[in-house]
Amino acid sequence: MALNKTNPGEARCPGPSTRDIIIADADGAPEVLTEESYQFLGDTDIPFSRYTSKRHYDNEIRNMWSRTWQWACREEHISKPGDYYTYDVGPYSCLVLRDHTARIRAYINSCPHRGMQFTGAGEQGHAKQFVRCPFHGMSWHLDGNLREIPCRWDFPHVDEENFNLIEIPSDTWGGFVFVNFDRNASPLADYLEVLPRHFESWPLEDRYVALHMEKILPGNWKMCLEAFLEAYHVLATHPEGLYTAGDANAQYDIFGHNVSRFVHTVGYPSPHLPKQLSEEELFAALGHDPKSLPEGVGARQQHASLQREKLGSEFGVDLTGLSNSEMLDSIEYFLFPNACFFPGVTIPLIYRFRPLDVDHCIHEIMMLKPYPKEKTPPAPASVIKLGIEDSYTTVADFAATGLAFVLDQDTENFHRQRAGIKAAQKEGQTLGNYQEARIRQFHLTLDTYLDQDTYLDQHMTNR
Ligand code: FES
Ligand SMILES: [Fe+2]
Repeated sequence: MALNKTNPGEARCPGPSTRDIIIADADGAPEVLTEESYQFLGDTDIPFSRYTSKRHYDNEIRNMWSRTWQWACREEHISKPGDYYTYDVGPYSCLVLRDHTARIRAYINSCPHRGMQFTGAGEQGHAKQFVRCPFHGMSWHLDGNLREIPCRWDFPHVDEENFNLIEIPSDTWGGFVFVNFDRNASPLADYLEVLPRHFESWPLEDRYVALHMEKILPGNWKMCLEAFLEAYHVLATHPEGLYTAGDANAQYDIFGHNVSRFVHTVGYPSPHLPKQLSEEELFAALGHDPKSLPEGVGARQQHASLQREKLGSEFGVDLTGLSNSEMLDSIEYFLFPNACFFPGVTIPLIYRFRPLDVDHCIHEIMMLKPYPKEKTPPAPASVIKLGIEDSYTTVADFAATGLAFVLDQDTENFHRQRAGIKAAQKEGQTLGNYQEARIRQFHLTLDTYLDQDTYLDQHMTNR
């Protein structure tokens, strides 16, 4: 097949780019949405062993999960002094709580006596004045200082100053509480790179958790995450989306080491369609009566106006100041190692992926919706847990968004991709230079944490 001769990574899908579409919208878009930040990061294959090797998995656990900032919960999960939330990833576990001064703190979830976990995985609750171990009843104040050792006479060798809870770094951004299991971690603000600047006009702290679910997925955590970092698969996996969503012309941005983004337009047909849709046909594909499209108004524009009215009244907020892109598009920011934040209003998703073992992970999803400023936000939704065979469509509120069906299509792929990766007689996966660049950035950043001797060793011998 003949290809245009360009430098690697420079080629783009013919036709209007995402940036062209957003700029052409009647109301434009915030500057950060028209910013482009792509760089070519190489084109060598990514070894399949990264998804199948237990040694690689252990390397990630030991060297990466132990040293990166990860969100643990939302601030509203621990709104009052004494409220706690348990965050677990791999073998690591911490108890995130608010102390009596309302300060957020995170403690290693392991009793200094004989290692009992204070709280179970994912457990939330309220500790009135102190943390009490359920095994022998030793207790600590919310500030981590030792409170009581039952039968104190039997522990003359315990120095109270050195028997406090072990605190790890915690901080907040966008209403999320972040923790880092590395007690020498550098500040969260540095780690977030462009996120605080980009989200200045999208304060996620002003939204509430309208839906919260987690599902076990049949795949290595990286393999599953990567399916959400590109829109290249829309053509074959979600073909019904082609009528209403730009896919091959989605924009991909690489910001620093930890952050990347895609902007995937909704209300603009795919460049893959063999023939151009009329505005009426596009409006119909977006679920409206084509005869109701006002003269001279584009389908994307009118769809955005209707969404502003509909969602504005549903949420009780004024959405008139938001651009079409912020209203409609699938705008996804990724933060290494495992979190995706969607600032858009129609698709207000939060994802994160946590490893369970080499072949399984947990996909956690939240929908963060706006609420009227003058009102107290609704309490965060409780977590709905789905097993490996459960369909996302069994969660009625999620099925209503139309996204559940799409995620079931992705899950079908995971079963087969996991098996196919194991069956491969090729060394690794071959990525597209542009559309799959975020996956490459992710692996390059992961590499900076891994023990390279172990990695090379397993790469040579463990396939
Ligand atoms: S293990 Fe916690 S009090 Fe004994
Ligand atoms: Fe998908």
